[in-house]
Order: sequence, then C-alpha cells, then structure tokens
Amino acid sequence: MKIKLSFISLLCLVLAFGFVACEGDEGPAGEIGEVGPQGPNGPEGPEGTGFQNCISCHQSQKIAAKVFQWEHSVHATGGNYEKNRASCAGCHTSQGFLDRVATGAATASMDIEDPLPQNCYTCHQIHNTFTEDDWAFTQSDPVTLWEGGQTLDFGKGNLCISCHQARVASPSLPDPATGGTITITNSRYGPHHGPQGTMLPGLNGYEVAGPESYENSAHTSLLANNTKHACIVCHMGTAQGTESGGHTFRVISEEGDINTAACVECHDDDDALIVMVDDRQAQIETMMEELRLKLVDNGLLDPNNDRAIVPQDFEEHEAGALYNYKFVQEDKSRGVHNFKYARALLINSIAALP
Ligand code: HEC
Ligand code: HEC
Ligand code: HEC
Ligand code: HEC
Ligand code: HEC
Ligand code: HEC
Repeated sequence: MKIKLSFISLLCLVLAFGFVACEGDEGPAGEIGEVGPQGPNGPEGPEGTGFQNCISCHQSQKIAAKVFQWEHSVHATGGNYEKNRASCAGCHTSQGFLDRVATGAATASMDIEDPLPQNCYTCHQIHNTFTEDDWAFTQSDPVTLWEGGQTLDFGKGNLCISCHQARVASPSLPDPATGGTITITNSRYGPHHGPQGTMLPGLNGYEVAGPESYENSAHTSLLANNTKHACIVCHMGTAQGTESGGHTFRVISEEGDINTAACVECHDDDDALIVMVDDRQAQIETMMEELRLKLVDNGLLDPNNDRAIVPQDFEEHEAGALYNYKFVQEDKSRGVHNFKYARALLINSIAALP
C-alpha cells in the first residue's frame, strides 16, 4: 500500500512538471503585433568571399571555351573510360587517376563505379579552394617511370606522362647486350598504347646493337624538359577552333592537318615543315612494314590481328624486336616525337632477326 501511494505521488510530480495543462486548458493565442522599424545596417563584410570567387571562373566564357574544345578531344570521345578495372582505371578513368595521385600507387585501389573519362576535375583542382588557384594541376611532380625507373621532369607535361607512359612489361625483356629466351603468354605483349612519355626522351626501347647508333632528334634536347613542358608545346598550341590545339589536345586534326601554329616558334616555313613530316613518317612506315613482315615470317606475329603468337618462347632478340615494333607503333607519331631513336630501334631490330 505504501509503495503504491508513493508511486502515485511521484507520478503526480512528474505530470505537474511535464504538463502545464494540470492548471487548466490554455486560452487562444493573441493577435500578432505590428512589424517594428527597420534596424541599422550591419558592419561591412570581409572583401571578395564566396560568391565573388565563383564568378571569377563562372561568369567569363573561359570554362565554356575549354569545355567546347575538350568535347572534341579523344579524352572525351575515345570511349575507353569503361576500362574501369583497378589495373586499368588509374589511366582510363578520372576517379582512378585521382585515387592513384592520392595514394602514390601505380594502380587504382579498386574497380571504379560510374567511371568518367579524363575531364576538368582529372587535371585541375576544381572546387578545392573555390578560387582561381583551383586551375592548379592535380599532378605536377616529376614522374618516375614504372618501366625503366628514370625520373623525368617535363614541367606541365608531367601531368600527361603520368598516364602516357609504358606499362611494366611482363615478363621483362632480356638484356639487349646478350639477348635470351622469355616465354610470352599475353598476345598484347608490349609497352601498351601510350608510350609517348618514353619515346620523346628516347628511353627504354630494346637497344640491341646494330648498324644504327642510338641518338635522339632535336626535339629531345629542346622539348623534353620543364621549360618547354614537352607535350604541351605541340599538343596544346593555339586552338584552331575545335580542330586542334588548346584543350582538344590534338596536334593533327581529324582531317589530318598539322596545327603548325604549335611548331612555328622553331619551324617558320609551314610548307617545308609538312614536307619534312611526310618524309620522316614515310621512312618510319616503310621500316615498320619491313619489321612486321620479318616478325610474321619468323612465326612471332599474327598477320590477321597484328598481335604476338602465344604462348611461345621468344629466343635471342625476338622479344626485343617485337617490343620495339609495338613501341614505335603505339607511340603513334610515326617518327615526329623522336625520329632518330625510332629509326634506330627499327633498323637494328630488323638486322637482329634472322
Ligand atoms: C577555378 C575555377 C572555378 C571556381 C572558382 C568555381 N568553379 Fe564551379 N566549376 C568549375 C569548372 C571547371 C566546372 C566544370 C565545368 C564543366 O564540366 O562543365 C565547374 C562546375 C560547377 C557546377 C556544375 C556542377 C559540377 O560540379 O560539375 C556548379 C554548380 C559550380 N561549378 C558551382 C560553383 C560555385 C557555387 C562556386 C563558388 C563557391 C564555384 N563553382 C567556383 C570551375 C570553377
Ligand atoms: C588520367 C590519364 C591521362 C592524362 C593525365 C592524360 N591523358 Fe591523354 N589519354 C589518356 C587515355 C586513357 C587516352 C585514350 C582515351 C580513350 O581512348 O578513351 C588518351 C588520349 C590522348 C590523345 C589522343 C590519342 C589518340 O589515339 O588519338 C592525346 C593526343 C592525348 N591523350 C594527349 C594528352 C596530353 C597532351 C596530356 C597532358 C596535357 C594528356 N593526354 C593527359 C590518358 C591520359
Ligand atoms: C599507364 C596508363 C595506362 C594503363 C594502366 C592502361 N592504359 Fe590503356 N591506354 C593508355 C593510354 C595513354 C591510351 C591512349 C594511347 C593513344 O591513343 O595513343 C590507352 C589506350 C587504350 C586502348 C585503345 C587502344 C587504341 O589503339 O585505340 C585500349 C583498348 C586500352 N587502352 C585498354 C586498356 C586496358 C584493358 C587496361 C588494363 C588492363 C589499360 N588499358 C591500362 C594508358 C593506360
Ligand atoms: C588532360 C589534362 C587536362 C584536362 C582534362 C583539362 N585541362 Fe585545362 N589545362 C591543362 C593544361 C596542361 C593546361 C596548361 C596549358 C598551357 O600552359 O598552355 C591547362 C590550362 C587551363 C586553363 C588556363 C589556366 C590558367 O591558369 O589560366 C583553363 C582555364 C583550363 N585549363 C580549363 C579547363 C577546363 C574548363 C577543363 C574541362 C573542360 C579542362 N581545363 C580540362 C590540362 C587539362
Ligand atoms: C614536336 C611536337 C610534339 C611533341 C613535343 C609531342 N608530340 Fe605527340 N604528336 C606530335 C605529332 C605531330 C603527332 C601526330 C602524328 C600524326 O598523326 O601524323 C603526335 C602524335 C601523338 C599521339 C597520337 C595521337 C595523335 O594526336 O595523333 C599522342 C597520344 C601523343 N602524340 C602524345 C604526346 C605526349 C604524351 C607527348 C609528351 C610526352 C607528346 N605527344 C609530345 C607532335 C608532338
Ligand atoms: C622548340 C623548337 C621546336 C618545336 C616547337 C618543334 N620543333 Fe621540330 N625540330 C626542331 C629542330 C631544331 C629540329 C632539327 C632541325 C631540322 O631538321 O629542322 C626539328 C626537327 C623536326 C623533324 C625532323 C626530325 C629528324 O630528326 O629528322 C620533324 C618531323 C619535326 N621537327 C616536326 C615538328 C612538328 C610537326 C612540330 C609542331 C607540332 C615541331 N617539330 C615543333 C625544333 C622544334
């Protein structure tokens, strides 16, 4: 009985605190009073914050112009951004690249969902400080090559060669001084599709001895450095509408016209330049065809798909000759990047095969 009473008094206490309604029902709310007079103006805010910064980028047509050019670049249109496995995504997707930059690893840490191709956010620090400082690059450090291990400083071109470099060959090539046998099981053996970062400086081909000595063209000493920014000079010259230059990253338009505005600083005669380019590219193409036929005759290359015939033991200099063939082919400049080096690799590979 005692316990029940004290429980009821406790309950009353709680109710008394909890509900004012204990004292009877509340009356109707009164009418809202008149609006008071406007207060004095507040103190002036700090200069140029927030919105002001947004406008510096967003109000000008700067972004629109770059987007317009980029939309005509192979970065935007190539379609290979769906290579989103961790091992491919570090170069083929925007998110995978940024992940690689953050961790310093050679591959993305996971497969990438909703993959995006290389876009403004891949290369620039967009929406980081929300000021024009955000045009800074996501990656500007010198690059230590995965294959070969040399460190290159191409200035703004460091961004490009973070992706446009050879992948590690597996199995690795024998020593070109001695040659040797390796078993190749992957028909796509070679440096992979973007080895321009090693062709321009003339590095990491299979330098088998032969009739040609290994030298570099003038572009190596003049352009493969951080004052000329390597790739940038030629591939991001003055934009020719959306055909080439600027953020199209193209030095040759889809119609095959060279953006000579990018070369004029050193080659002031357009016609002579085009004749020279045609001549050097024709030489490289002839040598490529000769090497291709030799690789086919030796049973190393499948003429139907242009890939290695595997699995197979590649003996002596066979693997190196195949590698050089793929290196020059996948550089895709057909000798413009570094004519002398490409030519020496081809001539000596042809001579090294029976
Ligand atoms: C360094 C220049 C820069 C500054 C500063 C900047 N932006 Fe952007 N913003 C960009 C770029 C570049 C894009 C991407 C354009 C594209 O892909 O079409 C973008 C895209 C956007 C988008 C579209 C959605 C998206 O994320 O793609 C919005 C919204 C936006 N910005 C809002 C803002 C606001 C708000 C501010 C200020 C607080 C701001 N931006 C400051 C450069 C900037
Ligand atoms: C995040 C990696 C990455 C970066 C950084 C990058 N690229 Fe690329 N680039 C690629 C990939 C991948 C492709 C192929 C795209 C496709 O096919 O979808 C490509 C394509 C290209 C192409 C067209 C190739 C063709 O076959 O037509 C050019 C030219 C090019 N890049 C130049 C550059 C330049 C110049 C820079 C530096 C300003 C640069 N790239 C930076 C990954 C990158
Ligand atoms: C080191 C960076 C890198 C990695 C890693 C990488 N790629 Fe690429 N890949 C490139 C670049 C750069 C290009 C564009 C080269 C060009 O067109 O000159 C490219 C082009 C391609 C192309 C188009 C080839 C053509 O000639 O049109 C395919 C297909 C491709 N890659 C598949 C893959 C796959 C599959 C993987 C993963 C197993 C992978 N890549 C990993 C950099 C890379
Ligand atoms: C593959 C890398 C890459 C991509 C993608 C890219 N940019 Fe750039 N951007 C560069 C490089 C490299 C430069 C420096 C070019 C030079 O010095 O001539 C640059 C320069 C710029 C500049 C001038 C910067 C300044 O300091 O005034 C602007 C603006 C710009 N980019 C906007 C964009 C926008 C917008 C996009 C997306 C549509 C974009 N970029 C995509 C690499 C890239
Ligand atoms: C001397 C100027 C020059 C320099 C420097 C240069 N390129 Fe090129 N590159 C060219 C020319 C010209 C072609 C086109 C050859 C053709 O298709 O006839 C080309 C072709 C390419 C291609 C094949 C796709 C295309 O646009 O035809 C890629 C990818 C490429 N270069 C990337 C790079 C990268 C990455 C760098 C920096 C390591 C670089 N280039 C440096 C002039 C240059
Ligand atoms: C910084 C200066 C510079 C720039 C920029 C430049 N070149 Fe060159 N290039 C040279 C020099 C120097 C030579 C060697 C002298 C000669 O043969 O005219 C050369 C040689 C060449 C060769 C012959 C290579 C050989 O070893 O036989 C070709 C092809 C070539 N350039 C194409 C181009 C194209 C195309 C562009 C623009 C997309 C370009 N160059 C931009 C300086 C430059």
